[in-house]
Amino acid sequence: MTPDNGGKAAPVASKSSSADAKGPNRVLTGSRSTGMPHLGNYFGAYQPAIALQDRYELFLFLADFHALNEGFTPAENRANSLDLAASFLGCGLDPAKSLLYAQSAVPEVNELAWILSCQVPYGVMARAHAFKDAQAKSIDLNMGVFNYPILMAADILLFDAKLVPVGQDQKQHVEMTRDMAQRFNARFGDHIVVPEPLISSDVAVVPGIDGEKMSKSKANTVPLFADDKTWKKQIMAIVTDTKGLDDPKDPDTCTVVKLYRLMATEAEVREMSDKYRAGGYGYGHAKLALLEKVKERFTPMRDRYLDLMKRPDDLRDIVLAGSKRARDIARAKLEKIHAAIGLIGRPF
Ligand code: ADP
Ligand code: TRP
Repeated sequence: MTPDNGGKAAPVASKSSSADAKGPNRVLTGSRSTGMPHLGNYFGAYQPAIALQDRYELFLFLADFHALNEGFTPAENRANSLDLAASFLGCGLDPAKSLLYAQSAVPEVNELAWILSCQVPYGVMARAHAFKDAQAKSIDLNMGVFNYPILMAADILLFDAKLVPVGQDQKQHVEMTRDMAQRFNARFGDHIVVPEPLISSDVAVVPGIDGEKMSKSKANTVPLFADDKTWKKQIMAIVTDTKGLDDPKDPDTCTVVKLYRLMATEAEVREMSDKYRAGGYGYGHAKLALLEKVKERFTPMRDRYLDLMKRPDDLRDIVLAGSKRARDIARAKLEKIHAAIGLIGRPF
């Protein structure tokens, strides 16, 4: 995939600043530990990131500080962190090649967030989409919601990430991150890599079963590692129009086809589209074909996930070992940033 254009190959981002040409080729992305991930998370972010782990240094992390600005209980928090770690590993993250860590175990992220926050104009923050949406819905407007883009920028900039695979909903956040990096570099010298978002148009917004964007906060998901019965229930509940079995149907606007396309070959999609146009093929048939694709793709990953979920201590050890490595990298970077801005230095 080319950054943000839906292509297939994944080059190193290099256009944005001279700092981009230096340093390791890092891909980084995070996911909030707020409950069972879904197909949107997988196709929008996890899969594009994990697909690069053989060619890039991959950093994949539990955005567990980002999860704190919504209602939660400590028990849910604990469960969600381990669940997300098992999900990443189930999806194919190899901890021997890549770094799996928890944001909360790398406190340097918060230090950089403070430094960045002192450079960001208030007006820029107040215009952020996610904040304005939260404001419009008058949901719990804590300062975490307001500061979210700065914490996310710190996640990315602390590790000199060049590519950031995310869904379309995170595009503005990565743009704000780039802006913060450029602002810092213009004032203090070329110290921070300016990252590129990696957003492929075919997976930028995976629809949920109601046709809207699939989202953990709505009941419209196909959860990655649900049991067969839940997969079937969710898929059979996909909203379609009311055309009958014999009627010709439009494959291009149908949510079932949009989801099928994520897992099927081009020939299979063509075959399904032809059947739609011809009539005599019902939405129920298409949903069953989609269910088969979900089972085929995710059953082996679910087996890995379930196996890991039986071993919470091992999971924790994997995350903490990754966090230690991430912290060493973060400390070294922060030391350079402290020097660049003229702080006194400290005994790291
Ligand atoms: P969410 O609550 O939106 O699922 P996450 O922090 O778990 O939030 O999201 C992790 C990643 O998944 C982000 O890069 C986000 O853009 C991506 N993502 C979430 N939903 C979708 C979707 N429906 N389509 C494509 N990408 C998505
Ligand atoms: N903000 C992202 C989301 O809500 C999660 C996230 C936090 C993230 N920090 C990040 C994604 C850094 C990519 C890079 O989906």
